[in-house]
Amino acid sequence: MRVLSGIQPTGRPHLGNYFGAMKQHIEMQKEHQAIYFIADYHALTTITDKKELKNNILGVALDYLALGLDPDRTIFFKQSDIPQVTELAWILSTLTPMGLLERCHSYKDKIAHGISPNHGIFAYPVLMAADILIYNSELIPVGKDQKQHIEVTRDIAIKFNLTFKEIFRIPEEYTIEQFAIVPGTDGKKMSKSYGNTIEIFADKNIIKKKVMSIVTDSSPVESPKDPDNCNVFALYSLFASTGEKEEMAQTYRKGGMGYKVAKDALFNKIIGHFEPYREKRAYYEKNIQLVKDILIDGAVRAQVIAQNTIDKVRDAIGVNI
Ligand code: ADP
Ligand code: TRP
Repeated sequence: MRVLSGIQPTGRPHLGNYFGAMKQHIEMQKEHQAIYFIADYHALTTITDKKELKNNILGVALDYLALGLDPDRTIFFKQSDIPQVTELAWILSTLTPMGLLERCHSYKDKIAHGISPNHGIFAYPVLMAADILIYNSELIPVGKDQKQHIEVTRDIAIKFNLTFKEIFRIPEEYTIEQFAIVPGTDGKKMSKSYGNTIEIFADKNIIKKKVMSIVTDSSPVESPKDPDNCNVFALYSLFASTGEKEEMAQTYRKGGMGYKVAKDALFNKIIGHFEPYREKRAYYEKNIQLVKDILIDGAVRAQVIAQNTIDKVRDAIGVNI
């Protein structure tokens, strides 16, 4: 199947992004024809600092390559390198009812949080529909928050096919739900917007500090503790084997263990898990031109598919005279 997903370069990837999206993306490339791109034009709806956007784009590319994205198997590129997508987004926008976009939760949430919306934030799902439809994508692995945008994409595709010609394949969403929401250092959902993240490839001292700052209850060392209501244990579980998890749970329940011990174990797990990827990341960081070349090569491959679709679309709507 052709799998497609986009990643916004709005910051440096964290453990929530890893367990909730990136890990699955990388696993899916083994069995599927995967297309993954850095959604820089989507990020432009919130980031207006040139340096920050550039750093984030490279950071996301480095993290994905370090974690095992295979650029020979998978088409990996920047959204902005495929102008056919923005062309298609305009065409699709002429078929998109205002009400469909007004109902989108992510748009309504932003308004509710007092963000003064620009047109890009409102039209965000139409650009996402163009991303998906232009590559004839079949399966779209996304977090729950993006589910509605896939429904919008389906509605727009059906309307185009009925209005003009059966060009678009109707994509299926694949909601990544195997893992519960990863908690942040304060116990809320780990998210860049809450400042509670542990970044995958942060400096080890920073990771240590973040782990030590994870909020726990204030029960004394000797008292028994409840692993099922502990942020440290929840994070530890993501890395540990079933046996290790069980052992840690027993240590909690027995009492006599301070949270510092559990935090140290978690810190060692994080560092151990990502150590091989850190080396790979350092290699790509030293060879940054190689990373840029990989993205350009991906864009060339993506453009072939995108151009083919846009040719059919232009023909179907009547602008080819
Ligand atoms: P953030 O909330 O940090 O801005 P994004 O919205 O950019 O994260 O999310 C990118 C991907 O990572 C999405 O597929 C999302 O579902 C997933 N993700 C983000 N945070 C978490 C989390 N705490 N737990 C599980 N998945 C997450
Ligand atoms: N909106 C998605 C997010 O914030 C990123 C994205 C852009 C995307 N275009 C896409 C995801 C197309 C899947 C398919 O996570």
